Amino acid sequence: MINTNSVTSISYDADELHLVWGDGKESHLAAIWLRDHCQMPGSRNPENGQRLINITDIPADTHITDAEIADGEVILEFSPEKHRSCFKTEWLRENAYDLQTGFDNRSERSKTLWQASSFNEGLPEVNYPDFVNSTETRKTALAAVAEYGFVILHNVTTQPGEVLEVIKQFGFVRETNYGPLFEVRTEVNPTNLAFTNLGLGCHLDNPYRDPVPGLQLLHCLESSTEGGESILQDGFHAAALLREENPQHFKLLSENWINFRFQDNHADLRSRAPLIEVDPSGNIIKVRFNNRSIDTIKLPAELIRPYYEAYRHFAEILERSDQQIEFKLASGDLVLFDNTRVLHARKAYSAAGKRHLQGAYSDLDGLYSSLSKLQ
Ligand code: OGA
Ligand code: ZN
Repeated sequence: MINTNSVTSISYDADELHLVWGDGKESHLAAIWLRDHCQMPGSRNPENGQRLINITDIPADTHITDAEIADGEVILEFSPEKHRSCFKTEWLRENAYDLQTGFDNRSERSKTLWQASSFNEGLPEVNYPDFVNSTETRKTALAAVAEYGFVILHNVTTQPGEVLEVIKQFGFVRETNYGPLFEVRTEVNPTNLAFTNLGLGCHLDNPYRDPVPGLQLLHCLESSTEGGESILQDGFHAAALLREENPQHFKLLSENWINFRFQDNHADLRSRAPLIEVDPSGNIIKVRFNNRSIDTIKLPAELIRPYYEAYRHFAEILERSDQQIEFKLASGDLVLFDNTRVLHARKAYSAAGKRHLQGAYSDLDGLYSSLSKLQ
């Protein structure tokens, strides 16, 4: 068997180390990068692995003066410091920047984009008591949020406040001006259309927050109305479709920042961000879409008309039913979703009967951290 971690050839010049690996792949690693990533106790705290040196502690003219391999370690010497570093070959193989790209759990590259037909075999869902008692089920559920952006939990106790206990299973509650949780039911004089029996178009919550809450939970305590079905859709897939159908429209929505705002008697929340956010390589990392909380759109005059065309195109994609999954939350169901990716909507519901959800927010980093520990 080929040992990919084994080094079959080592050579260097002042500026870089050249390694040939067991599988024939090659790495060319810069002297300054190697010195900065030195794993020795003088450079890193051996207990927590955190770096002890600053970039300015390393001479700008750092170069390699010796390189050899002994006992599975690459031993380097750097001048002008006369500093010696030993790197385990496994570490170099795992971290070589010319063999793999950097960590990315956010962008479209690390997700499975979906449309309605992707779930012909069923939605990602688990039984909540199993989620609590079995690390396997918890892992399955959290991995579904990472991959598809959502999971449905069944048989969550319908005790008010239970949504916060669910969050504590994997992360931390993101408290807002609405409190630790918010009630979604018909109210007299509602401050938000969510608190009426009207339908709500596809949206992401709270784009007016900076940063936006990464996760949202909606827990159904009671549902005896006609209507009120839930709709979810993959905003990354919709944005990718927009890019495919009209790259110029995608560019307009990702390059122009607009304002979002929410105001009531106690709060005035504002943010400024694009509808589609991309990383420096152009990969989709976040979408924001909420017709209720887009503030006055102010762009350079010549961009207004093209922007509106692009905005309409994106909204039309979001309205396509083949992009949407629909289900009705029953009492005890809870939907947990990535609020930077998956849009949600609700159909109007009858005045007769009662519908009561409790919602809450959390952050993606906590969920990813729990998932990483489970994996
Ligand atoms: C909300 C919301 C959906 C629902 O409160 O943000 O979108 O099903 N509610 O009531
Ligand atoms: Zn909402």
